[in-house]
Amino acid sequence: MDRSRPSPSRVEIDDPRVTSLLGEMTLTEKIGQLHQINAGEAHLHDHLAWALREGRVGSVINEVEVDIVNEMQRMAVEESRLGVPLLIGRDVIHGFKTVMPIPLAQAASWDPPLVQDAARIAAREAAASGVNWTFSPMLDVSRDPRWGRIAESFGEDPTLAGALGAAMVRGYQGDSLANPVSLAACAKHFAGYGAVEGGRDYAATNVPENELRNVYLPPFQAAVEAGVATLMTSFSDIDGVPATANRWLLRTVLRDEWGSDAMVVSDWDSVRQLAIHGLAANDRESAYQAITAGVDMEMHGEAYVGHLEALIGQGVVALELIDQAVARILALKYSLHLFDRPYTDVGSFPPPGAADARAVAKRAALESAVLVKNASDVLPLNAQALDRLAVIGPLADAAHDQLGTWIFDGDPGMSITPLQALRELVGDHVDIAYEPALATSRDRDMQRIETAATLARQADAVVVCLGEEAILSGEAHCRADIDLPGAQTALVRGLAEEGRPVIGVIMAGRPLTLSGVVEHLDAVLIAWHGGAMAGPAIAELLFGHAAPSGKLPASFPRMVGQVPIYHSHKRTGKPPSPETIAHIDDIDPRAPQLSLGMTSFHLDAGYTPLFPFGYGLTYTTFTYHDLRLEQARVRLGEDVVAHVELENTGSREGVEVVQWYVRDLVGSVTRPVRELKAFERVHLAAGERRSITCRLTAQDLAFAGRDGRRRAEAGEFHLWVGGDSQAPVRADFWLEDD
Ligand code: BGC
Repeated sequence: MDRSRPSPSRVEIDDPRVTSLLGEMTLTEKIGQLHQINAGEAHLHDHLAWALREGRVGSVINEVEVDIVNEMQRMAVEESRLGVPLLIGRDVIHGFKTVMPIPLAQAASWDPPLVQDAARIAAREAAASGVNWTFSPMLDVSRDPRWGRIAESFGEDPTLAGALGAAMVRGYQGDSLANPVSLAACAKHFAGYGAVEGGRDYAATNVPENELRNVYLPPFQAAVEAGVATLMTSFSDIDGVPATANRWLLRTVLRDEWGSDAMVVSDWDSVRQLAIHGLAANDRESAYQAITAGVDMEMHGEAYVGHLEALIGQGVVALELIDQAVARILALKYSLHLFDRPYTDVGSFPPPGAADARAVAKRAALESAVLVKNASDVLPLNAQALDRLAVIGPLADAAHDQLGTWIFDGDPGMSITPLQALRELVGDHVDIAYEPALATSRDRDMQRIETAATLARQADAVVVCLGEEAILSGEAHCRADIDLPGAQTALVRGLAEEGRPVIGVIMAGRPLTLSGVVEHLDAVLIAWHGGAMAGPAIAELLFGHAAPSGKLPASFPRMVGQVPIYHSHKRTGKPPSPETIAHIDDIDPRAPQLSLGMTSFHLDAGYTPLFPFGYGLTYTTFTYHDLRLEQARVRLGEDVVAHVELENTGSREGVEVVQWYVRDLVGSVTRPVRELKAFERVHLAAGERRSITCRLTAQDLAFAGRDGRRRAEAGEFHLWVGGDSQAPVRADFWLEDD
């Protein structure tokens, strides 16, 4: 990314019209701009209508009936004294009508242009409803699959999340916010929310400043650099100060260090929740805390409208703070051209679910599926060689569940399920027998497992669609046990006993612990909640009309007790190795206390995940040769340039995601064992070989030191390249002081 060039879609904060309009506003009208009202099922309710006419509302959330949105805008523009149009906010998280794969799945594509295209489609469909502001992308680095919101995230890695988050911002905001198809994006939840204790939503986070700066903040900084129009504060308490009252985050980091003018909105009623947290005694104190910390707009809550006027009157809050917040909101409205174009002409947009939208949804589902096991090359299936296919499982024909969480506007009627798609793709040649076996993913009733096993016995191959229903992940949908729920493990075992090849397709909103089933499955395709077009993508991947190319954006633990387990952990003073670990089953009861290696591992799970970050197979194989650095000794501040030869050594074309990892051996603060620094999707024909280049700038190698400042430090580095985070091909370089 060219960091020196401002994104054309950023908000123009110095617009002279803002100052002039601000000069005409009463204090009540100013505070009105900081207020967001929920429409929801009541739509244009009496309180909202009153607030619109009085100029006491700046934004409406949760109204997507275009005629009602237009009427709201008309009331704001034509019936209020100053005619200020509205921001219309909606959670457009992974598509609007055309549901794309969940963000965690999109992250598995490692394909920023694809993520950008998917967001562009979502923006177009949402804009047709009058929405002009989406609460996306969610940029919380997430290393805890118990947390239901990992589904909304780009996974465990800050570099991947930053690249995809910036792409999503570019997709929503387009080349210009003035484009009627653009939405203002919102980077959320600023910051640290992904670290909620125990993976329990809304719980406290305890993230030291150094970890915040090196892990949790970089994706937000990438979004800011991409010109994101707004940020949302997190619900969570961070080191004793909830994010919604965190002046250090919202002023020191966002405004002073990053120079951002992006408007900051609270999360849903999170201003008043400051009193529930126990940081404030009542709504008045909450309003004081949030406005002084730097929250410009209150999402669905009445602390600001209820108390700011008095706080200013009493001289407790400076009017200047209100003016700054209002200016940011007005500047956004001017940038979106809402003053000269407040109404939505639905006829000027393509209909929802248009062919190009479905094509992007399908491409996203194809690229996001990750093949993690393929014993004896059981995949791809060959339709000519199969007479009978058994399609089993509670998610094989679950149009709603494949859409995943946050689909307020999605239509399950637009979903094509794996069962439908398999029938369509190979039904002419292959006899397809279907048995869900379990009514839902949580069903514990084992009675129909026998029926499913019978179908398996009569078939040449079995596809079993397993996982979680949509409702088991997302906000406030956390799990302490992340095995396949219900009787699904028993189902897999029942099918495996029939001796036919069994292919597991896992449709879930999080990494699951799959140790109990992987050994009974011949192939495993992680298809996540793949959206409307999940079915055709899965069918084409299983039958080799397309090849898997996804890579895991988060590690898959062996057991839940390993969580958090992620690739870029610190080394510790006692790192484990295969020689220094013991297994609980092998330990002599009288073994001396100090005999077990004394390194950092679990007696029952070791120290590695079941599947590591970045991992994914395809139908061909790739090898990496001749890694070389242009210079092994590089002056601090200059670029490190490496080349490697990538070869497709199989007999099919394929896509490899080339991943570059670095370890800084000695730092002024300890550095992770590996950090992802760059990645690239590369398509190679069978037998093709290509030279791949990686250029790392000083910025790429920089990290926040003890003083919080980012800089690269001199010393020795390891550089690895490969197809996952355990890639063995390595070269070393040194950064040198002048
Ligand atoms: C969530 C936000 C969301 C907001 C509005 C909150 O509960 O945390 O991510 O944007 O609701 O629906």
